[in-house]
Amino acid sequence: MGSLKDRFQSKAAPSPTERPAPEIIKVAIGLRHWGDISTLSVELRPEKRTDILGVANAATMMELYDAAIQHDVDVVILTPDLPGFEQSGLDLVRKLYQHPDHPIITVALLPPGCGDWARTLEQAGAAFHVTSPLREAEVARLIEGIPREVLRAYQHRGTAGTLARLDQETAQIVAAQAWEHRTVAVWSPKGGTGKTFVAVNLACLFGVVCNLDTILLDVDMDTGDLFISLDGLGGDFGHTIHELATRWSKGEPLTTKLVESYLIPYQGRLKVLRGIFDSTEGGMAPLVEAEAIAFMGELLRIVRQMASMVVVDMGLSAAHPMHLGALDRADVVLIVLAPTHPSSFRAWSHMGALQREMEISPARFKLILNGYADNMEFDRQGTIQELGLPEFVVIPQDVENEVVRSINRGQPLVLYEPHREVSRQLAVLGAHFYPPLNTIWSQYGGRGLLPKRSLLRRRKH
Ligand SMILES: Nc1ncnc2c1ncn2[C@@H]1O[C@H](COP(=O)(O)OP(=O)(O)O)[C@@H](O)[C@H]1O
Ligand SMILES: [Mg+2]
Repeated sequence: MGSLKDRFQSKAAPSPTERPAPEIIKVAIGLRHWGDISTLSVELRPEKRTDILGVANAATMMELYDAAIQHDVDVVILTPDLPGFEQSGLDLVRKLYQHPDHPIITVALLPPGCGDWARTLEQAGAAFHVTSPLREAEVARLIEGIPREVLRAYQHRGTAGTLARLDQETAQIVAAQAWEHRTVAVWSPKGGTGKTFVAVNLACLFGVVCNLDTILLDVDMDTGDLFISLDGLGGDFGHTIHELATRWSKGEPLTTKLVESYLIPYQGRLKVLRGIFDSTEGGMAPLVEAEAIAFMGELLRIVRQMASMVVVDMGLSAAHPMHLGALDRADVVLIVLAPTHPSSFRAWSHMGALQREMEISPARFKLILNGYADNMEFDRQGTIQELGLPEFVVIPQDVENEVVRSINRGQPLVLYEPHREVSRQLAVLGAHFYPPLNTIWSQYGGRGLLPKRSLLRRRKH
């Protein structure tokens, strides 16, 4: 991992998604019927062809999975009557597709009249199917379909990070739902409440899990530490928001091209504008001058044109002009509150000042209670009343240090541990802004987002 300084200075590491599709496609076979096995083995021999090669045969689902990993294959061809398929087949198909090094696609060979399996397998991520027994026409479909689907999987990985491929039905549900651009600023007037954690994970939900063009801005004027939570996000010292503001203040107009040249790609479609390297930059011209508010407004105007979703991570001082600019211009401001009375007191006192001095209306502000547990003796109702803001989402306290681990590893929790309750609540938050996430999240590996009660209610009607 190297020292923090190394990580800051290193060039952005190519994300694992950038590996090109293979020229020679390796295949592992998990079939039952001898005729099919021998037809394929002959077809995929090096004497016969050089573009697609059979490298392993397996007799059970587990063997097939192990062989696929061990031989670094690109494709498995399997039949659902393979021993062990009933128990773990669908999970392993998903796992292969999401393999961290490169996608491994599944092609199903189905006995005739097995229409249900075709659907089930394709929902789990299988690329396509042909029917058994394998005759000339079926073999031709396989040989023609495999390179096409491998390429498609690589292209999909390149744009969608680790997202499981959406089956057609889910893709249609997702496409039918309405949503609109949102610029979401994440703020709290107290340090260490989880602003950066929430901002990073929200941006990953939009840009990686949902594959939306997303820009994450590090606007913390105390110190821009956001990049540490995103593995491989290097870049040189100069490429920061401070440098961009300096160029703008010298008369260079902010254009999409200029801003784009400052963005560092992360996984999927998420790009990041890095923050200031140390607090002295945050206290220097042009960031502290009155024109910084205008710069912030202009920056948000430009990134809004470039991305479907914009997430802004902020520092705590509401007096800093860059923070003020973001508070003033974002569509939504999430106040990340720790479940402590000092935290709610600060939020209360700042909200009053913002309204009085800056005429910033609280209508766009939403409350996120982060790190909450029932036994904290925190007055939730009192806080809600004092602030005049309802709770939007409550993120539980992380009891197993998964949050700290994810930050230290630079692996955003929602991407690497979607089954955690903290991840689930972050996804609930994301789904407020992008409702298709409700559908995408369960395919991605997280537990369903809709509360059980509403599911029951829907079933009754
Ligand atoms: N849900 C949570 N449960 C427990 N600890 C959390 C949670 N969210 C954040 N933290 C802790 O809070 C620390 C500060 O988070 P960070 O996002 O850097 O805060 P901020 O940006 O507001 O200063 C993290 O290092 C992490 O240890
Ligand atoms: Mg922070």
